Amino acid sequence: MTSFIQNQWYVAAYGREVARTPFSRTVCGESILLWRTEAGAITAMSDRCVHRRFPLSEQPSHLVGDTVVCGYHGFTYGADGVCVAVPGQTRVPRTARLRTYPVVEQDSFVWVFIGDPALADGVRIPRAPWLDQDGWTAVSGMEPLAARAGLLIDNLMDLSHETYLHGGYIGTPEVAETPISTTVDEKAGIVHVSRHMADAACPPFYAESTGITGRITRWQDIEYTPPCLYKLHSRVAPAGILPNADGTDPDAFHVEVVYAITPETESSTHDFWAVARDFALDDQGVSDFLAESNRTVVLQDVTALDALERVIAGEPDGYQELSINIDTGGLAARRMIAKMAGR
Ligand code: FES
Ligand SMILES: [Fe+2]
Repeated sequence: MTSFIQNQWYVAAYGREVARTPFSRTVCGESILLWRTEAGAITAMSDRCVHRRFPLSEQPSHLVGDTVVCGYHGFTYGADGVCVAVPGQTRVPRTARLRTYPVVEQDSFVWVFIGDPALADGVRIPRAPWLDQDGWTAVSGMEPLAARAGLLIDNLMDLSHETYLHGGYIGTPEVAETPISTTVDEKAGIVHVSRHMADAACPPFYAESTGITGRITRWQDIEYTPPCLYKLHSRVAPAGILPNADGTDPDAFHVEVVYAITPETESSTHDFWAVARDFALDDQGVSDFLAESNRTVVLQDVTALDALERVIAGEPDGYQELSINIDTGGLAARRMIAKMAGR
């Protein structure tokens, strides 16, 4: 019995990762082979040959046109997963086909549908348009996490940890000091957590990228669409500067921090992260700085969450956590996920 939420879209890769060399990524315990056809369409299929399970991502498996040839005995499959040739006989067994996955390339991500393909509705995929949109510049990466996805969700839903775990990068005392408000939109399937700091120190992450030298008004508005897509709408402006009444906000800096939280196994996760900004669009120095800083921050989380996973793996059943106000977002996310999983 799997604990992964079925019939959901998950990010399997960035579009830039998928090319004419097939590669494998495990999503919710399923090894998926990703490659592009000659026309550029992404194909997602099982990475296990139906014959003797040889991985089609393993050399000397290879593409010939829009077919993939198994490197062990040569079973050959089309982009639809159907086997078109086997060695030593002309008759191809009717059942010789690889499972294929519905796939959508959108907002720089490659989304795959885990579950019953008949239920795959691409319209339900949550959006992160800033990652691939004029007027924004994005940097992104992916770090492997040796911890269950739930630990990363807890981590991202409670940013008070920035003050302690990410001090000197994105954390300042005001993050932990400022209370949050949490709301749940059951219909849309979104958990919102807001923390608005009116007068806060500017952490290096924003000081160096925006050029602001003094104190700031700093807003953190989280929008999490379980199971996979997390967005942090971050607004930074010199202290006291607020958006105009009509919603325009020309004197603020906007950063969209996006995470795709994709379970790999029961105890490991693909931690996709991206940072998009609406300022210094062509400044490579700012891009390099934000990419390097955010990766450092992500790795600080990875180190902490890997430690938590080891603790959890070694503890007896029945350990009781203690939760406080800062945990309301994480607890709301857990409830929504439990409901989606039918638990
Ligand atoms: S294992 Fe793939 S052809 Fe035999
Ligand atoms: Fe963090």
